Amino acid sequence: MSVFREDVLAGKTAFVTGGGSGICKGITEALMAHGANAVITSRKQERLDETARELAEKTGRECLGVACDVRKPETVEAALDAAIARFGGFDIVVNGAAGNFLCPASQLSYNAFRTVMEIDTIGTFNVSKAAFEKQLRARGGVIVNISATLHYGATPLQAHAAAAKAAVDSLTRSLALEWGASGVRVVGIAPGPIDDTEGIARLAPGPIRDQMIAGIPLKRMGTIAEIADLALFLCTPAASLIHGETIVADGGHWLGGNALATLMGG
Ligand code: HXC
Ligand code: NAP
Repeated sequence: MSVFREDVLAGKTAFVTGGGSGICKGITEALMAHGANAVITSRKQERLDETARELAEKTGRECLGVACDVRKPETVEAALDAAIARFGGFDIVVNGAAGNFLCPASQLSYNAFRTVMEIDTIGTFNVSKAAFEKQLRARGGVIVNISATLHYGATPLQAHAAAAKAAVDSLTRSLALEWGASGVRVVGIAPGPIDDTEGIARLAPGPIRDQMIAGIPLKRMGTIAEIADLALFLCTPAASLIHGETIVADGGHWLGGNALATLMGG
């Protein structure tokens, strides 16, 4: 049973990039289960349609899947227009679209680095700016940027994603500064390793998974539902003073569990 009132987002519409899969599918489900309708976007229309059907059935709310590539502003604008046409507008934007893979910096092609920067950072800017111009400036709302903790220290084989997410955190602060007066709250979530996701399948292959868990003070990965609940909280009036901040939800992972911590037995 949810700890949130089930109609806390009644009358709201959420626009979620990357909402067809993984963490952002979970976020969409949580928002819908608490009263919101949703538009989910990514590049693959078929997966979006399937997810939209599933979430509508589960929650009793409406969900529309619209394909767009966050790197291409014209496709972003068309997707936002589709949201306005279907639901009359939107109040919540979740920037979750991202790309990542393990690769040493020396082996990253120029295009590989640029691709991740374009999806994560430029995509977040494209969607936020277009959403602000089309709706949020006039009616207020919440933007939730999905970040990571990769860049708090440094993470091997992740120069591209770490740089991209550092820039996302910077955008969260800058947009909060500029758009707060229009009634738009801008916040971020930095998940640690989250189980049953594409991210973990790509970044923690084979035995790395157990080593990663050993380095997490809570001794487990997070769940999609835990990140979804945090996103839901940030979209409710309970978070009305949180602005420009990126909240870490990682079981203490980035604090840096090490052999001595393991010896201490937690
Ligand atoms: C090295 C790679 C690579 C790899 C792709 N490239 N995969 N380089 N190692 N494993 C290079 C390609 O060779 C190409 O460079 C460039 O990247 C662009 O690749 P494309 O396949 O043309 O790009 P595109 O089709 O746009 O796909 C983007 C993608 C892809 C990021 C590469 O994997 C994708 O669509 N991912 C979306 C799903 C995803 O990544 N989910 C996980 C998010 S997890 P050249 O020079 O050859 O042209 C996450 C977790 C963060 O973000 C923190 C966790 C703790
Ligand atoms: P995921 O399911 O692969 O989510 C990424 C989504 O982005 C996919 O739905 C993908 O769909 C979409 N996408 C990729 N490129 C796109 C583009 N150019 N335009 C539009 N959509 C695009 O992976 P996930 O692990 O759940 O990650 C979700 C978010 O959490 C990401 O922001 C990630 O960085 C963050 N995160 C994840 C973890 C983790 O442990 N998994 C940890 C920290 C942060 P298409 O391929 O259909 O386009």
